[in-house]
Amino acid sequence: MARRVALVTGITGQDGAYLARLLLERGYEVVGGVRRSSTHNDWRLRELGIAHRVRLVQMELSEFSNVFYVVRDTRPAAVFNLAAQSFVAASFRQPLYTASVDALGVTRLLEAVRIVDPEIRFYQASSSEMFGKVRETPQSETTPFHPRSPYGVSKLYAHWTSVNYRESYAIHASSGILFNHESPLRGREFVTRKISSHIAMFRHGLIDTLRLGNLEARRDWGHAADYVAGMLAMIEAADPGDYVLATGRSHSVREFAELAARAADLDLVWEGEGVEERGRDRETGRVVVEIDADFYRPAEVDMLRGDAAKARRDLHWEPAIAFEALVEEMVKTDLDRLDRNQPLL
Ligand code: NAP
Ligand code: GDD
Repeated sequence: MARRVALVTGITGQDGAYLARLLLERGYEVVGGVRRSSTHNDWRLRELGIAHRVRLVQMELSEFSNVFYVVRDTRPAAVFNLAAQSFVAASFRQPLYTASVDALGVTRLLEAVRIVDPEIRFYQASSSEMFGKVRETPQSETTPFHPRSPYGVSKLYAHWTSVNYRESYAIHASSGILFNHESPLRGREFVTRKISSHIAMFRHGLIDTLRLGNLEARRDWGHAADYVAGMLAMIEAADPGDYVLATGRSHSVREFAELAARAADLDLVWEGEGVEERGRDRETGRVVVEIDADFYRPAEVDMLRGDAAKARRDLHWEPAIAFEALVEEMVKTDLDRLDRNQPLL
């Protein structure tokens, strides 16, 4: 690629921050799309120490003219489309908004790329949520899709739109089908960071219990810092394509909670069933975890486990950070933030 400007939509999110850091390390000039907000929301970029090194532009994915002019004026070599209403539970309450941003937003962006310069390379942040009610395990690029949420349905539209622009206009558009990836920069509504932050607050005596939904759901959890390397590998590959990124291991929410508690010197023992189930600390007998049916979803994705053989073969991509290390890093970071009187964002 001759020019080295990378446009990252969703740069204020978890992946946006890690990807921006990687792009800067690799010599890219990074332009970040941010939506208008009454408060400046760059805490992740500040935490990684790169806020002063990226140029931010206002970019709302539901507004075509805004999207078009940003692409025209920044003339990137590559667009990484990470912006989305990314919380599955919220998509049941805001299905139309989710579709506008997560599905049609991608058409807006790809139309802008097609009109401005079809040589611009494109990465779409697709999701293992598209497999939903899984037809086979592990899931790979050839597994049939069966999304279970407005979020999953919207991401599937976006995935096929990316494939279609590749096939129709020869745009170098890749779709990364990423399984769950987490980090200390994860949003606090997602179950992993909800657990790490609540366990840390429990340890500091700031809350009484952690309230969770379905403890049996299983996810293939990796570390976000590993996954953004796969995104860049897709953009830099000679040919575009669809790639699963996953660890190949799957754990339950219950296992995540047990490991997170252990990282804070709590030993969970379970009693009761269903919504009556509780997780107590073995030593003190205090209730640490309770079940709250409000966190159940209208339709659940019970289990995800990915097969990233294609990415290993074609992109030489391999995740480096193991599940146990990820959980420990998340809990220790939240404990450390509280030790230093930092708010948990
Ligand atoms: P995230 O932390 O929720 O970040 C989402 C980003 O999108 C934020 O910067 C957010 O801005 C921005 N955004 C939301 N609505 C927008 C709009 N209407 N216009 C412009 N920007 C908007 O998500 P993430 O975990 O980094 O994930 C990045 C992408 O990968 C998302 O598309 C997600 O769906 C997808 N994905 C994530 C995972 C995962 O496990 N993390 C797995 C598969 C796919 P604010 O900061 O203002 O909210
Ligand atoms: N958020 C949340 N809160 N989830 C809970 C809770 C709770 O209190 N209790 C149990 N869960 C279960 C959910 O029902 C789900 O089965 C699982 O924990 C994971 O939920 P989330 O962490 O919210 O993530 P997700 O798997 O729904 O979606 C994430 O991963 C997708 C990739 O598969 C998001 O990052 C999506 O944007 C991403 O595409």
